[in-house]
Amino acid sequence: MEIKIIKDLMDKYKRPFYIYDEKIIANQIQKLRTNFPEFEFLYSIKTNPNKDVIKFISKNNIGSDAASKNEVFKSIDAGIPKEKIIYSAAGKTKQDIEETYDKCIITADSYHELEMINEVAKEHNIVLRVGVRINSNYAIEGGDILPSKFGIDEESLLSHKEFIDSLENIKICGIHVHLKSQILNYETLYNYYKDVLKLAVFCVEEMGFDMDYVNFGGGLGIAYSQRENELEIDSLGQKCKELINGFKEKLNCRLIIESGRFIVCQSGTYVTYVIDKKVSRGANYVIVANGYNGFHKPALAEMVMSYADGPLEKIHSVEPMFTSYDAYEVKVLNESQEKEKVTVCGNLCTAADLIGKNLVLPKVEIGDIIAITNAGSYGFTLSPVLFSSHDIPYEIYLNSNNEVFISKY
Ligand SMILES: Cc1ncc(COP(=O)(O)O)c(C=O)c1O
Repeated sequence: MEIKIIKDLMDKYKRPFYIYDEKIIANQIQKLRTNFPEFEFLYSIKTNPNKDVIKFISKNNIGSDAASKNEVFKSIDAGIPKEKIIYSAAGKTKQDIEETYDKCIITADSYHELEMINEVAKEHNIVLRVGVRINSNYAIEGGDILPSKFGIDEESLLSHKEFIDSLENIKICGIHVHLKSQILNYETLYNYYKDVLKLAVFCVEEMGFDMDYVNFGGGLGIAYSQRENELEIDSLGQKCKELINGFKEKLNCRLIIESGRFIVCQSGTYVTYVIDKKVSRGANYVIVANGYNGFHKPALAEMVMSYADGPLEKIHSVEPMFTSYDAYEVKVLNESQEKEKVTVCGNLCTAADLIGKNLVLPKVEIGDIIAITNAGSYGFTLSPVLFSSHDIPYEIYLNSNNEVFISKY
């Protein structure tokens, strides 16, 4: 993205903002389409629910992975058709179901939810086609098979067949599995997809599900830092073609991949400005507007790193709050050739409000603009923007013609 665009926007609005670059989103969508022609895609709205982002997603014929009833409504507002909105979340209330049963495909997350959906369908005198989330009997990265708050355990399915069949007002028409995000090894994803397909065949043959779709969930990772290698999406796509061919006889239904960060993360930049600069006992401090309360990731990364005991690369991610200690880059948008070591902080009344300690940056002046990369996913909505009642950053959507669309809060 052109630096001039960012500078002009800061001049005009004089407050921190997120900016999302449509060209990058379009490019990511293109990669998915080219490499996975057999699949449909759902955009995980929670990743970035900005209305202009969702509109672009809808324009590109991508459906929605909605994680709340309000995400179902946002999807409808953006023009996504009902059959492409799949509502999957743990802990839906009966009211959530009542308000959405005719607006999307609901994925039940527990046996209790299946019962509730059946009740709602009965009250409306219909038979509703629903999905079910399954906690598959598979360890995606080796190790133990873990319990989960999500879905129903694969091994419990058969013993619940009678119960499921007794629910006369629903018909299970799809399965949803999601075990992990941010996978960069294509073979890990390939083996996982293979396992989900086997599970789907079991669901048809042994459980009698009338399968309209198999939803493989998310997992497509992105290289956040230069240390990481991009997911070899072309190799994954190639292997998936053969895999799917092998299952064609037994499964003839929609194949769905969900994706959030892969589509939007790199499109987003968080932009703030330097309010003050000072030296304390020999250390340089730069204070910016809306640090932690604008973009949460640097402060969380600094906190996690302060507890690290051992190599930073080994710290486990806690998605989507913490991905890695270097999951973004801090840039100063000035022309200075001189470098200096500074600690960049936000203007909150807590020392935890840190962008980065001892960063070596071009010499920073008051008024300079600071841009942080990889801010397009799990950024604005996960940041505590109400803390200390500061002005809330704007969100700016930059379309392919460099027109801007502002969301003000
Ligand atoms: C069920 C499900 N699908 C998809 C996603 C999207 O993940 P990502 O942003 O890593 O693509 C998530 C993220 O939490 C998820 O829980």
